[in-house]
Amino acid sequence: MHKRTENKRAHCIVLKVTVMNTKGGCGKTTVATNLASYCASRGYGTALFDYDRQASGMRWLKARPSNLPPIHGVAAFEPPRLGITRTWQMRVPQDTRYSITDTPAGYALIDIEDRVAETDVILIPVLPSSIDIHSTADFIRDLLLIGKARAHNTRLAIVTNRTRIRTRAVEKLERFLNKLDIPVIARIRDTQHYVSAYEQGLGVHELNERDAQKDCETWTELLNWLDNDHGGFTDFEYTLLQDLTA
Ligand SMILES: Nc1ncnc2c1ncn2[C@@H]1O[C@H](COP(=O)(O)OP(=O)(O)OP(=O)(O)O)[C@@H](O)[C@H]1O
Ligand SMILES: [Mg+2]
Repeated sequence: MHKRTENKRAHCIVLKVTVMNTKGGCGKTTVATNLASYCASRGYGTALFDYDRQASGMRWLKARPSNLPPIHGVAAFEPPRLGITRTWQMRVPQDTRYSITDTPAGYALIDIEDRVAETDVILIPVLPSSIDIHSTADFIRDLLLIGKARAHNTRLAIVTNRTRIRTRAVEKLERFLNKLDIPVIARIRDTQHYVSAYEQGLGVHELNERDAQKDCETWTELLNWLDNDHGGFTDFEYTLLQDLTA
């Protein structure tokens, strides 16, 4: 475990995970809501922060049936109500173990360093198309150079979304990520189950459809990775990025 991460975690036992990519529609809300519901259904105190004015995360939470494991929602995009401080608005219940943050597309560059500094892990969903791969490469560069992810010891990891096995775009994406030594920690299937789960306030693992259980493995693997201390960035990766963006 990196020293900085130890310091971060020593003052706070909550694991802070931010789902982020400036590219719109790549699956940020899908990852944030499915991860939150998976953590909650494993019996862990879970909070979902929504920084997106579209409020997709809060809408999902509103649809969530009350008999399912609860998730503490914070509409972080809203200014605090009169008489309430920002700190009070952002507080989480004491038993919170996972704090998951959904962010909007086109996240302002000025906020990147704050976000990187505040979080333990940044999950980056990527669609395997050329346009998405290029804009994600730019975003990763911003996280490292502007966000100073290395200095803050924030782990970055990729989640490929709507993956069809062995398309050329997927191979290209994986080659790019290998070069940067950024781990791909989960591959999310392209299935209507994600659309239907969102509408019902569920995670895919909470759907009754039999083949939705296949998708459970995705979230088990993702949570296993989060619970172990992989990731982190080396000087070599920084140098490589500097070269790539020169
Ligand atoms: N693996 C998947 N299979 C099928 N549909 C998916 C999958 N992932 C996402 N979708 C659908 O694609 C759309 C965009 O996904 P999502 O809202 O999660 O993206 P986003 O990155 O949060 O978008 P935005 O940038 O607008 O916030 C949604 O309708 C969602 O249900
Ligand atoms: Mg979203």
